[in-house]
Amino acid sequence: MSRIAYVNGRYVPHREAGVHVEDRGYQFSDGVYEVCEVRASRLVDAGRHFDRLDRSLAALRIRSPMSRAALTLVLNELVRRNRVVDGLVYLQVTRGVAPRDHGFPPARVCPAIVATARSVDRAQRAARAQHGISVITVAENRWPRVDIKSIALLPNVLAKQAAREAGAYEAWFVDTAGFVTEGSSTNAWIVTNEGTIITRSANEGILRGVTRTALFDILADGRWALEERPFRVEDAHAAREAFVTSATQAVLPVVRIDGRPVGNGAPGPVAMRLRGRYIEHSEPT
Ligand code: PDD
Repeated sequence: MSRIAYVNGRYVPHREAGVHVEDRGYQFSDGVYEVCEVRASRLVDAGRHFDRLDRSLAALRIRSPMSRAALTLVLNELVRRNRVVDGLVYLQVTRGVAPRDHGFPPARVCPAIVATARSVDRAQRAARAQHGISVITVAENRWPRVDIKSIALLPNVLAKQAAREAGAYEAWFVDTAGFVTEGSSTNAWIVTNEGTIITRSANEGILRGVTRTALFDILADGRWALEERPFRVEDAHAAREAFVTSATQAVLPVVRIDGRPVGNGAPGPVAMRLRGRYIEHSEPT
C-alpha cells in the first residue's frame, strides 16, 4: 500500500509530497510542529496537542491555518488512508511561501501545512521498554524558547546523533548549572531512593510534553510522591530509576546514563508501572 501525505489542502502520494523551495520552514525553520500518537487508529490526547499547537503558533505570530475541527478531520483521514492502527501523525505549520526575506511576509501569505502518518512496530517499542535505554548527557545549547515546539531542531538533531554514535538512544541536555533540562525529543524524569518522582518544571527550559502532562494526571491520585523541580546529573546517577516520556515512546525506562547503570541497571518498577498506567489511561475511546 502506498503512503499518502497531506500538503496544503491536498492528499498526495507520499513519494511525490513536497513543499515550495521558498517555504519559510525550509529556509528559516519558521514554523512549528506536533507529533501525536495513534493507537487503535485513533489520535491520543489530540486536544492537548492542538492546545500546544495553538500556543506555539501564537508565540510565533503565525495564523492558525484551519479550524481545530478541520484539522481533526484531516488527521483522521490521513490515519484512515494510511491504514495506521498503531503509529504517529506528524503535523507541521510554517509561515508560508514568500520571496526570501527575514522579516515576516505580507499578511496575505497563507501559512503552509503538511501532515504525514505512519505505522510503528508496537512489539519493537514494547521490547525497547523491556530492555530500557541508554542516555548520554550533552551541554544545553538551545535557544531559551524551547517551550515553543518549533521546527528549528538542529541542537536536538546533533544531540540525538551524538547519542547514536555513543551507542545510546537519547541525549539529555544539561544546563550550565549542571541541571538536566530534557532529552533531545523527550522529557526527563528520575525516581529517588526514597521513591520520589522528580521532573523539571515546565516553566523553565523545557517543552511541556503532552505525555508529561498526562502522567501528572495519573500521579495526581495521591499514591505517588511527585516533585516538580530541576535535578542534577549526579542526582540522576544516584537515582533508583530514571525514565523519559514522549508521544512516540510513552514512558521509557533509562538504564544507563553516560555509561553508568541507573539503580541496578534494569528497568525500574515505577517506570514500568507508569508505562502500563499511561497506556491504559490514554487508551483512545
Ligand atoms: N518530541 N521535549 C522535546 C524536546 C520534544 O521534542 C518532545 C517530543 C518532548 C515530549 O513531548 P510529548 O510528550 O508532547 O511528545 C519533550 C516529539 C515526539 C518529536 O520531536 O518527535
